[in-house]
Amino acid sequence: MRYWRFHEYGDLSNLRLEVGPRPVPGNGEVLLRVAFAALNPADALTVRGLYPRTAPPPLVVGRDGAGTIEEAAIAGKFTVGDRVIILRGEVGVTRDGTLAEYCTVPETLLAPLPDGWTLEEGAAGPLVLLTAWRALVDIGKLSKGQTVFVNGASGGVGTATVMLAHALGARVVAGSRSTEKRDRLKALGADIVVDSTKPDSMEADVLNALNGGRCDIVVENLGGAYLQSSLNVLAEGGCIGVVGLLDGFLSELSLGHLIFKRARIEGVAVGAYSPEQAQDAWTRIVGSLRTTGAKPIIDSVLPFDDVQEAFTRLSRGPMGKVLVRVD
Ligand SMILES: NC(=O)c1ccc[n+]([C@@H]2O[C@H](COP(=O)([O-])OP(=O)(O)OC[C@H]3O[C@@H](n4cnc5c(N)ncnc54)[C@H](OP(=O)(O)O)[C@@H]3O)[C@@H](O)[C@H]2O)c1
Repeated sequence: MRYWRFHEYGDLSNLRLEVGPRPVPGNGEVLLRVAFAALNPADALTVRGLYPRTAPPPLVVGRDGAGTIEEAAIAGKFTVGDRVIILRGEVGVTRDGTLAEYCTVPETLLAPLPDGWTLEEGAAGPLVLLTAWRALVDIGKLSKGQTVFVNGASGGVGTATVMLAHALGARVVAGSRSTEKRDRLKALGADIVVDSTKPDSMEADVLNALNGGRCDIVVENLGGAYLQSSLNVLAEGGCIGVVGLLDGFLSELSLGHLIFKRARIEGVAVGAYSPEQAQDAWTRIVGSLRTTGAKPIIDSVLPFDDVQEAFTRLSRGPMGKVLVRVD
């Protein structure tokens, strides 16, 4: 089979298309024939050696994927030919991932492809929707009618957060640097969109749009210079769920604002879900999205040979998920 694997930490050119034997599933595992894999910024960090607690190289990358069961687990709940998706787990982190024609997956990390979803949508949804759920519901304790600001709203996590927050009855404020993407975010359920090109003007735009109001929850995908602005638009007693750090690993923060606002800033780690918790959250996510009919947003689908191009597209700021067609 063919797979994208790296042998040494470094830039993405270290990720190479190789040929080798199919993996053999262990106890409680299935052999999955991967149809589509979705890329995440964490895959690039893994190749660079900047993602914590990953298996050492050689490693096949790819955390998200959907496909069909080629070999079922003994006495397992899935049978050959079932269409399944991978929930967040160790795939592509501590074991070989989905940028491969076949990969082995513990059954506990699999869920059936939701009714009415395509395999593309199944590959695009799980990791970012579980992340959004963790930020909004587990950490943010979102209730209906609250205001949520999504910073970095056009990407995988961002679009998932906008759709979920809208489905859960929140007023959604969404930031993007692109006019076209801001229009698309409105169609996804954002009530207010702001230009996030610069943190200061973004902050002013959020406050103007809210007429002096503030946000109960911020889902922060950018970090870096944006975190202070996110704190400035937060209501007293509000919560910032820090998901990502696309603008930088380090932020400078006014502790006075933190104290005055009695704000909570909490790291969001989707990997902290146990398989059981992920299954439970996933059932609730799919149920919530059914109320609006929303489905995962796909930016693009690239051929298996073009994985490097797919990563370039991801780094330039997608609208939804960048996928790779594997079979
Ligand atoms: N903590 C967790 O468990 C977890 C889970 C998943 C992802 N993440 C992290 O969360 C972050 C977002 O992930 P993602 O999959 O949504 O990424 P993504 O698909 O690449 O999208 C991020 C969006 O942010 C905007 N953006 C990117 N760089 C920017 C910059 N320097 N300044 C301003 N805006 C910028 C872009 O939108 P515009 O071009 O429209 O502005 C882009 O579409 C990443 O850091 C990722 O590693 C964390």
